[in-house]
Amino acid sequence: MPDFSNQVAFITGAGSGIGRATALAFAQAGAQVVVADIDETNGTQTVREINRLQGPEARFIACNVASPEDVDAAVRQTVEHFGRLDIGINNAGIGGAYARLADQTLDDWNRMLAINLSGVFYCMQAEIRQMLAQGGGKIVNLSSIAGVRGMIKGGPYSAAKHAVLGLTKTAALEYVRQNIRVNAVCPVYTHSAMVDELINSSPEMEQRMRRVIPIGRFGQPEEIAQAILWLCSDENAFCTGQAIQMDGGLTAG
Ligand SMILES: NC(=O)c1ccc[n+]([C@@H]2O[C@H](COP(=O)([O-])OP(=O)(O)OC[C@H]3O[C@@H](n4cnc5c(N)ncnc54)[C@H](O)[C@@H]3O)[C@@H](O)[C@H]2O)c1
Repeated sequence: MPDFSNQVAFITGAGSGIGRATALAFAQAGAQVVVADIDETNGTQTVREINRLQGPEARFIACNVASPEDVDAAVRQTVEHFGRLDIGINNAGIGGAYARLADQTLDDWNRMLAINLSGVFYCMQAEIRQMLAQGGGKIVNLSSIAGVRGMIKGGPYSAAKHAVLGLTKTAALEYVRQNIRVNAVCPVYTHSAMVDELINSSPEMEQRMRRVIPIGRFGQPEEIAQAILWLCSDENAFCTGQAIQMDGGLTAG
């Protein structure tokens, strides 16, 4: 397991699903963790779970990633409290309306871009500014298999996740000489609040979703978390600007 002792990880959307699993994994690997989430109840629950490990300190910071002021304040509070920010995991996101393009509403489109794209942009800006000041860092953005393929009835989601990869690759090129590595992970359906609702909506839906994944099952949040840790580890110092597809073989075909 990589060792993140004396490093500070700032994780958005860490109140649930992949974000929570990632926060726990970083804490187990010795990092101090900031759980940044819009949902205080779930965010503080993640902190409680980390505290049970009796490891390094974890802290909840309320943050709506769609607000640049919130994001700046959350990163500022992180640095004021822990003294630095080594790792930024830009994970907060929503699933959005499940409808074909012509039936999507403008409100849903704007909300999707505000959280899943602008949210990542605001976080990257704040994190990179701090990392430049302290001499380096690692960023992982949550894209999706919908960020490398189209997604029927998920146009705004797919558009936002494609754009996240554009930000990832560009920032990787811009800051590679400043010791900042920027990568992304692209999960296929993974058990979490976001997709379990869809999976459980009907037996046919579960069958249909499972059928497209060659490995024959959904991902587990802990599996995505391990990929994120590896991307941030020193063992991975040569890898930047990449999108790792965590998809049970889907895009191999
Ligand atoms: N689960 C999957 O199958 C899957 C697949 C591909 C990509 N992803 C991506 O992984 C990320 C995590 O998804 P998940 O499945 O764990 O979802 P989830 O719904 O379990 O967790 C999302 C978290 O983000 C938080 N959040 C939502 N809006 C926010 C905002 N405006 N500001 C701050 N926090 C906010 C929620 O409160 C929640 O804690 C998302 O970006 C998602 O698009 C998930």
